[in-house]
Amino acid sequence: MNFQHKHILGIEHLSAEELTFILDTADSFKEINTRDIKKVPTLRGKTIVNLFFEASTRTRTSFEVAGKRLSADTINISASGSSVVKGETLEDTAKNIEAMHPDIIVMRHNASGACRYLAERLDCSVVNAGDGMHEHPSQALLDAFTIRQHKGKIAGLTVAIVGDITHSRVVRSNIYCLSRLGAKVRLAGPGTMLPPGIEKLGCEVHRNLEDAIRDADVVMMLRIQRERQGAPLIPSVREYSRYFGLNEDKLKLAKKDAIVMHPGPINRGVELSTAVADGPQNVILDQVENGVAVRMALLYLVAGGEQLQND
Ligand code: CP
Repeated sequence: MNFQHKHILGIEHLSAEELTFILDTADSFKEINTRDIKKVPTLRGKTIVNLFFEASTRTRTSFEVAGKRLSADTINISASGSSVVKGETLEDTAKNIEAMHPDIIVMRHNASGACRYLAERLDCSVVNAGDGMHEHPSQALLDAFTIRQHKGKIAGLTVAIVGDITHSRVVRSNIYCLSRLGAKVRLAGPGTMLPPGIEKLGCEVHRNLEDAIRDADVVMMLRIQRERQGAPLIPSVREYSRYFGLNEDKLKLAKKDAIVMHPGPINRGVELSTAVADGPQNVILDQVENGVAVRMALLYLVAGGEQLQND
């Protein structure tokens, strides 16, 4: 397949065929991460800038590791250590970075649409590492990769996603990705965390966790995104946990071989009990491991993919 996208701004505009191609490309990179010498020359001579305006552990580290394992030069910039704190705008910051001729800017920003804004103004590729409440495409792809690894397929599975649906960019990208690949997606959360009309994206909406996870193949739990909420949306964390937290008893409602996922960071004792977070059905660290291969695939494909092999 000839992958034609210069930028990865979201899953919304990727076809099922393109999503499958990204997952297959990630599959071909996965083995590199377990070699003694974890490096291939694929992106030698390319420069990748990781520009993070929000906190991150998994995404930033794995984009950096992915770039380094492909032999690109990777540079990390965080807002707190940049001239943003002196009042420089996003566009000026990005244009100054682009003046140094990077090939790819990977950006996380708290404003929905910030990655598209940059992509429309810069010549280099832009990869969205999470923009506000909009999308987190690399997370959805690593989630799909992990589901395919454990279940052997995605089509026909029932995936329940539970938590703060309104403020989650992970959920939006996952709805697009998983439903396009043929899964049935069910959502559940408190009424104040369920955006009206979300079912129009092609998912079922439930008001309680039990209905969402009953007979599900995959249960994906989300953190309450306090940093994106204004006034408190739940009476108390304890009450939230009672109704929307996953413990071993509630997990019995899902299929016996259901897997439990979480994008991280986990708030133990809130959305997941420690017994479930560390239990036999959890695949949370597999998600993190697979994130490196998926991000290697994304960097490789936006940098020119097969064209690079022929140069
Ligand atoms: N899942 C995720 O985006 O984690 P980080 O915020 O640590 O990158």
